[in-house]
Amino acid sequence: MSGELSPIDKAKYVAAKRAVDFVEDGMRVGLGTGSTAAWMVRCLGEMVREDGLRIKGVPTSTRTAELARDVGIEVISLDEAKWLDVTIDGADEFDGDLNLIKGGGGALLQEKIVATASDQMIVITDASKEVEHLGSFPLPIEVIPFGWQTSKSLVEEMLISMDVLGRDATLRMNGDHPYVTDEGNHILDLHLGRIGNARQLSLVLNQVPGVVENGLFVDICDVVVLGYGDGRVETRDINEGTVQEDRLDFVESDNLFTDMMD
Ligand code: A5P
Repeated sequence: MSGELSPIDKAKYVAAKRAVDFVEDGMRVGLGTGSTAAWMVRCLGEMVREDGLRIKGVPTSTRTAELARDVGIEVISLDEAKWLDVTIDGADEFDGDLNLIKGGGGALLQEKIVATASDQMIVITDASKEVEHLGSFPLPIEVIPFGWQTSKSLVEEMLISMDVLGRDATLRMNGDHPYVTDEGNHILDLHLGRIGNARQLSLVLNQVPGVVENGLFVDICDVVVLGYGDGRVETRDINEGTVQEDRLDFVESDNLFTDMMD
C-alpha cells in the first residue's frame, strides 16, 4: 500500500461499500458521478469480476461510463434499460427529508433523469454533506448556451420573489472557458445561502426559458448511506423511517482498497 487514505476518503469508501449491498444479480443500476460514486463503481466492478455479479449499468456522465467499462461493468444507455432497479449517486448537500443539491460535478441533468427513472435512489455521502437547510452549497442549474446571459438575468430576477437569502448567479468556468456539460450546455451556480422552499424553487427555476434543469432533487432520494472515517456507516431509509448502523473494517488485503491506494 502506497499511503494512508484520508478520513474523508475512508468515509466515502465505506458508504459506497455498504450501498452496493442493495445491488442484486440481474439488476439495471444507475451509476452516479463524482468522487464518492467512483468508489461505488469500483466496488461494483470488483463484485462483477470476482463474484460473478451480472448487472447492467447506466452511467450519468462520460467519465463514469469510462470508469465503469474500465472496471468490467456492462454499460448500456438509459433508452436501452428504459427503467432501473436502483441508482446510487453522491450529493453535494442533503437535508432531513433527504432532499438534495446535486451538480457540483456538472452532471446534474443526466443524474436527475437517471435517478427519476429508478425504483430506488440511494445517496452515498460523508457527514459533511448533511445540512439543516439546503443552500449553503451553490445550486447548479444547467442552461443552454444560446442567450445564457439573458437566462441568468431572468433567474436572478425570479429569485427576488423566492424564499432565499442570496441571488447571485455565476457562470461556471473551466479555466478560461465556460464549463460545458456532457449535453453541451453551461452551468450557472446560484449563491442562495439558504433555500426556504426547495420544491417551489425547483418548479419555478425550470420555467425560465433557457434553463434545462436544476440541481434540486426533491422527493427523489429514498435512502442515504452516511459513511464515517472510522468505518461506521449509517443507513437512513426515508420511506421505512429506519436508521441502521453498521461498521465496516478496512482490510489491508482488500484488493479494491489497495488498488485504490496505488
Ligand atoms: C455530480 O454532478 C454531483 O452531483 C456529485 O454527485 C456531487 O457533486 C458529489 O460529488 P462528490 O462525491 O465528489 O462529493
